[in-house]
Amino acid sequence: MSEPLLEARNLRVEFDAGRGLFRRKRFAAVEDLSFELRAGETVGLVGESGSGKSSLARALLKLLPAARGQVLWSGEDLTALSGAALRMRRRDMQIVFQDAPSSLDPRMQIGDILAEPLKIFEASAGARERAARVARMLERVGLSPRMTNRYPHEFSGGQCQRIGIARAMMSNPKLLICDEAVSSLDVSIQGQIVNLLQDLQRETGMAMLFISHNLAVVRQISRRVLVMYRGRLVEAAARDALFAAPLHPYTRALIAAVLSPDEAPARIAAEPIDDEPRSSRALAGCAFRSRCAYAAPVCGERPPRLEAAAEEHLVSCHRHAELAAVNTPPT
Ligand SMILES: Nc1ncnc2c1ncn2[C@@H]1O[C@H](COP(=O)(O)OP(=O)(O)OP(=O)(O)O)[C@@H](O)[C@H]1O
Ligand code: SF4
Ligand SMILES: [Mg+2]
Repeated sequence: MSEPLLEARNLRVEFDAGRGLFRRKRFAAVEDLSFELRAGETVGLVGESGSGKSSLARALLKLLPAARGQVLWSGEDLTALSGAALRMRRRDMQIVFQDAPSSLDPRMQIGDILAEPLKIFEASAGARERAARVARMLERVGLSPRMTNRYPHEFSGGQCQRIGIARAMMSNPKLLICDEAVSSLDVSIQGQIVNLLQDLQRETGMAMLFISHNLAVVRQISRRVLVMYRGRLVEAAARDALFAAPLHPYTRALIAAVLSPDEAPARIAAEPIDDEPRSSRALAGCAFRSRCAYAAPVCGERPPRLEAAAEEHLVSCHRHAELAAVNTPPT
């Protein structure tokens, strides 16, 4: 297989948690997270609010520092890059955020907003070429080239998101990260933007990391899906395998919450947990334990490790084999 386009190795992202008794405390928004993304691949990233998806996205682009671990771009360690070298790398890796209107400078005409990446990354392009490429890109994202002189406030939320996508596409990125890019839009507009992203992805062959709360959208767009819980990767699998036979109890809960009861994966009986006192030992166990219907004593003793349950199917749960058995339909 070819070398991954992007690879995270044991990545940790920290934030300040305020002052403790003696010193400032830090906490990990992303912890020991590893994954690969191949050229042209669309990978979905799901997890509840606060699970660390945006922190991961920003660390991948080096918009946030990695406290530990590495980010490799085509094998090159991004964590070691800075200055001009990093700026040039950024041309290949773009991001589209949730709140499109506020990510566009209200004082700039959209023609200038779209021309800016060209000024940075292709300084040799003249004003006329820039204008032509801006016009082509506007058309490509479904806006009229006649709109170049308008300001962001003259556009709807969906149109602003098209402008944000156009701006990201101006440098022909090899990777587009969409961080909740459709989440604040009406459902019908969401569908249009997802279609646009899929078209752009097919035309350009770029890879996409698609972050969303919305499992239906992730299911539509992704070839592979990553599931995060409290900063860690708890499951990663091909899309169909993940939706048909999720192995991690958290993934099962996420999917069960959006599927109708007869579509949802089978439930297995919960094992009662001994009523042990809260001790430091309990903290060493699985982070999902207090919410898990399947928690067993071992889950409080040591944290599960991410391991291969099947080809291209990673899961971090002590009981994944039992859960898989229950999911497999009888032959
Ligand atoms: N700049 C920051 N300073 C301190 N803590 C932060 C900062 N950004 C995020 N966090 C914390 O890090 C954790 C992960 O946040 P993050 O925004 O990455 O999650 P998320 O999965 O993107 O959530 P959402 O789905 O709501 O966008 C949360 O506990 C959050 O409060
Ligand atoms: S390791 Fe235990 S507590 Fe954690 S998800 Fe698996 S069964 Fe639940
Ligand atoms: Mg986020």
